[in-house]
Amino acid sequence: MPKKILVTGGCGFIGSNFIIYWLKNHPLDIVINLDKITYAGNKKYLSEITKNKDCKKRYKFFKGNIRNVKLVQRILNKENPDIIVHFAAETHVTRSEGAAENAKRFFDTNVAGTFILLESCVQLNKHLRFIQISTDEVYGEVKDGFRKESEKKSGFGKATSPYAKTKAIADDLALSYSDKLDVIVARPTNNFGPRQNPEKLLPRSITNLFLGKPIEIWGEGNEIRDWLYVEDTARAIETLIEKGKTGEAYNIGANNKPEITNKEIAELLVEIMNLNKEKMIKFVPNPRKHHDFRYGVDTEKIKKLGWVPSYNIKELFTKTIDWYKENKKIWLSLKKEAEKLYND
Ligand SMILES: NC(=O)c1ccc[n+]([C@@H]2O[C@H](COP(=O)([O-])OP(=O)(O)OC[C@H]3O[C@@H](n4cnc5c(N)ncnc54)[C@H](O)[C@@H]3O)[C@@H](O)[C@H]2O)c1
Repeated sequence: MPKKILVTGGCGFIGSNFIIYWLKNHPLDIVINLDKITYAGNKKYLSEITKNKDCKKRYKFFKGNIRNVKLVQRILNKENPDIIVHFAAETHVTRSEGAAENAKRFFDTNVAGTFILLESCVQLNKHLRFIQISTDEVYGEVKDGFRKESEKKSGFGKATSPYAKTKAIADDLALSYSDKLDVIVARPTNNFGPRQNPEKLLPRSITNLFLGKPIEIWGEGNEIRDWLYVEDTARAIETLIEKGKTGEAYNIGANNKPEITNKEIAELLVEIMNLNKEKMIKFVPNPRKHHDFRYGVDTEKIKKLGWVPSYNIKELFTKTIDWYKENKKIWLSLKKEAEKLYND
């Protein structure tokens, strides 16, 4: 049976990669994208879809805020989706810190926005599958070991940054609706790949190198993230749509072996691009008051559904670098704005 999927935040990094993956691999399905186009959203990320005759006719875009109740309810009634994949969020930890006004923006979108989507589905009797895209950051810093899904404390528990706290609350909120909706929570680790805003570590580093500038590593660069390729996340969400169990949360991670520090990420990029390590990696003071040292998730639960991540990180980094090489027009215009965040 062809499916209709409402994607929120589909002009952002993971959302756009998910839409491209879905429309190409599900030739009968329809995707509706609701995105406010904040600084992180870009319609050009979806040019592969809008320039493809077949995909274009199965794709519809609404520009708007997930907090706009009337708009959300109009879309739900008119389009009647079978599934919602909810990506839309404020996502950059650095932007969530500092002034309370910053944190409020995160609360408004990540908590109130999620609440409006969930509540609207219930009020309109839409018994659909709702995939809440959460994050591994809801477990807080994990110095060693791997957290199972059941080990998440409530939203007011361990998450550190305002970003992580709002995502943790939204995660709880979504699960609290699983008596009325077919809710599944997905908790992916640090994604990388094409179409990410150049303010985030990997694209910032790659685009710096393309502009002849060194990569900036905060502190000593010993922090560890579990680097997951964005198409693997899209496949994991597909697995959850098809085989996930209502009311359950699933960790999605690559479980990098060996684990990789931020400093090693920089070294790998410089090596792939054939540049000089001493000249092209610079260590700068860490602008964050607190920087989580490591996150770690146990991924056995989703693996039992048949999903496995790709393992060749060097090959996937090369693929990512190639995208930035071929799409300079897209990221160059965003780079100036992104750098203001670090230089102001
Ligand atoms: N990027 C990662 O490594 C990562 C890891 C784990 C989880 N996540 C989660 O995945 C989801 C997507 O992350 P991303 O990195 O693609 O984010 P992103 O910042 O690249 O994109 C967010 C998108 O949401 C849209 N948006 C923001 N506020 C909105 C609103 N009020 N109404 C409608 N649209 C709005 C933006 O315009 C943008 O297109 C988020 O929920 C994030 O918490 C991301």
